[in-house]
Amino acid sequence: MTDTQLRQLIEGSKAILLENWKEGFTVPTKNLYPFQWNWDSGFVSLVHSYFFLFIAMLLLDTLFKGQWENGMVPHILFHSENETTYFPNYDFWNSNVNQGAPQKPKSSGITQPPVHGFILENLLEKFHDNEELLAFAKDIFPKIVHFHRFLYTYRDPNQEGLFFIYHPWESGRDNSPLWDESLDRIQIDRSKLPTYKRKDTSLADSSERPTDDQYDRYVYLIQFGKENQYDGKAIAKESPVLIQDSMMNAILIKSNQSLINLADRLVMDKAELEEWQQQSIKSYNDKLWSDELGMYACYDMRGGKQIPFKEIGGISPIYAGIPDKQKADLLAKYLQDLHDRGYYLCPSFDVDSPLFDSKRYWRGPVWPQMNWMIHMGLKEYGYEGLAKIVKSDLLELVRTLGFHEYFEPEKSLAKKLSRGYGGDSFSWTASSVLDLIHST
Ligand code: DGY
Repeated sequence: MTDTQLRQLIEGSKAILLENWKEGFTVPTKNLYPFQWNWDSGFVSLVHSYFFLFIAMLLLDTLFKGQWENGMVPHILFHSENETTYFPNYDFWNSNVNQGAPQKPKSSGITQPPVHGFILENLLEKFHDNEELLAFAKDIFPKIVHFHRFLYTYRDPNQEGLFFIYHPWESGRDNSPLWDESLDRIQIDRSKLPTYKRKDTSLADSSERPTDDQYDRYVYLIQFGKENQYDGKAIAKESPVLIQDSMMNAILIKSNQSLINLADRLVMDKAELEEWQQQSIKSYNDKLWSDELGMYACYDMRGGKQIPFKEIGGISPIYAGIPDKQKADLLAKYLQDLHDRGYYLCPSFDVDSPLFDSKRYWRGPVWPQMNWMIHMGLKEYGYEGLAKIVKSDLLELVRTLGFHEYFEPEKSLAKKLSRGYGGDSFSWTASSVLDLIHST
């Protein structure tokens, strides 16, 4: 890539972050997602730090203002109650059925990947001696631990060190085929389902979004959560969807490690974290590794079995230092093969599966923040060449197809397109690009 092209990517990222900033938080993209999203805020905070460190801190601070008493950090904070272009809005979630949910900001009743620990470590690596950041880190550290404690307390009924999700939106990989079998367990009785109107499909191409049938099931699960006051323990007993997600748990392990690494410097206790971490890593390798797939799998707790699909979550533990060298080699080989076959890295789902859909959200497309994590993980394990491909593939996709939400993985198809998929001017696309440019 030429210097001019790189400069254009940097300028483009900066412009998007300015455009999406809303006094205290950043929207993922203006029209489709007009509120504060949890894991988006983590990635975006990293990059705000390049321009204004105080904004990076403010963004995380604002997010944790929505933390529930039980420790959960919700997946969406509805800072404005007047915005009507998103479904399901705060009134539909009605999260105050849970006594510990703050009255303000209103929030959803589910969570998202716990990225904040590793984001905090990353910020402290970038601005090692900044006094304000150190003070901020001391303030937010116990809140992040409280979030992790929530996952281990309310979402791990068998005390395995692996927590469950009960709504696909918690995983961030909303419509991945991973969840199909669990969602099909739901008997939809339309007379009992509340009437609702999707808004996303009038803002983005419906062929790039989840289907109506999937939406009915998402809405059913919100109703189900609400009826159970969004209480993890009750949900564990009854939910038709109960899954130990490979990516969510890998991210938790990565963030645990970051907090452990920071604890001494911040004069914080790390004994609890170390205990969680030891058990989680062991269970992760014992329960989620699949010889058949040559990668990690999610575990369906209702069905009592692994979910046998090759997908991006099964590779993500490379970012958390979970696999040994032999397993890591298999993950790297999987990616190298895809590259050799003419795919941009990293497709979100198995390109050889009949369920692969190269443009439909999490059933195939390349997602920027996934490339960011996998690039960092590959580098850590010493797969330098592959790490460079993961980085340059994303930069090329964004340069040629714009700062979109997700991208076509088949190179031959992508070359014929004029844009990426989903929302445009996307915050975490800007942040992944900019941070990767800085990563050597
Ligand atoms: C959406 O609205 O599609 C989001 O992914 C849910 O968080």
